[in-house]
Amino acid sequence: MSLSEKLAATSQYIKEAGVGTVDFGLILGSGLGELADEITDRVVIPYADIPHFPVSTVVGHAGQLVYGTLSGKKVLAMQGRFHYYEGHSMQTVTFPVRVMKALGADSLIVTNAAGGVNTSFSPGDLMLITDQINFTGDNPLMGLNEEDLGPRFPDMSEAYNKAYGEVTKKVAQELSIHLQKGVYMGFSGPTYETPAEVRMARVMGADAVGMSTVPEVIVANHMSMKVLGITCVTNLAAGMQANLNHEEVVETTERVKADFKELVKRTLEKL
Ligand code: 6GU
Repeated sequence: MSLSEKLAATSQYIKEAGVGTVDFGLILGSGLGELADEITDRVVIPYADIPHFPVSTVVGHAGQLVYGTLSGKKVLAMQGRFHYYEGHSMQTVTFPVRVMKALGADSLIVTNAAGGVNTSFSPGDLMLITDQINFTGDNPLMGLNEEDLGPRFPDMSEAYNKAYGEVTKKVAQELSIHLQKGVYMGFSGPTYETPAEVRMARVMGADAVGMSTVPEVIVANHMSMKVLGITCVTNLAAGMQANLNHEEVVETTERVKADFKELVKRTLEKL
């Protein structure tokens, strides 16, 4: 079955479940899924029920689509995402973004938890993603290109929409939320980086390192979607602080999620 055929089947199922027009796709990262609880006029669809959707294996990731109204916009949120390190192909990881576009979404908001590499960052900082570095060694567009979805050689010169970034900066200022700006560098995971890899990331131009987002943003750009990305810097990367653990990631998102939710909601209102 071709990708286009799968997309047709999956979007038909989702429409029949009650999902109407979609303005914004929303991918909620580790610990940030609660934002979906604020969506009203809800339709909730567990991933396990959706044809051609994989099943998420990470604890703390709910694994469902939530459709409805948020800040006056029609959104389709992923509460829990698929990661490359789970063993899914990049095509599988990014399939939900294809589905969002098939349902009409021309914009995508991606969020994640990541480690800070920039020495001026602190755990708990929120960061507007201005650009990304694909360091996964893979690409979701490998293989035959389906021309009806996008071009063979997509432009990535504004991977994250500048105008959306400007709106986000302004909203952060209004809310007195300190918003860092920077480059997100995507690794495959599931190991955290070594201190040497963190030094490499810094000289290469990264401000934060993580294990998600890069494939989804590539696919969104392939389909000419406008992307807004927000990172929660949950900890500093290896060599910059004491040993890393997932518990700290969870604790930090817990601490900053109120600001995170307010920032996304108020920004969405103005997009
Ligand atoms: Cl330090 N590295 C990566 N790759 N992902 C993370 C992280 C670090 N902290 C949270 N997520």
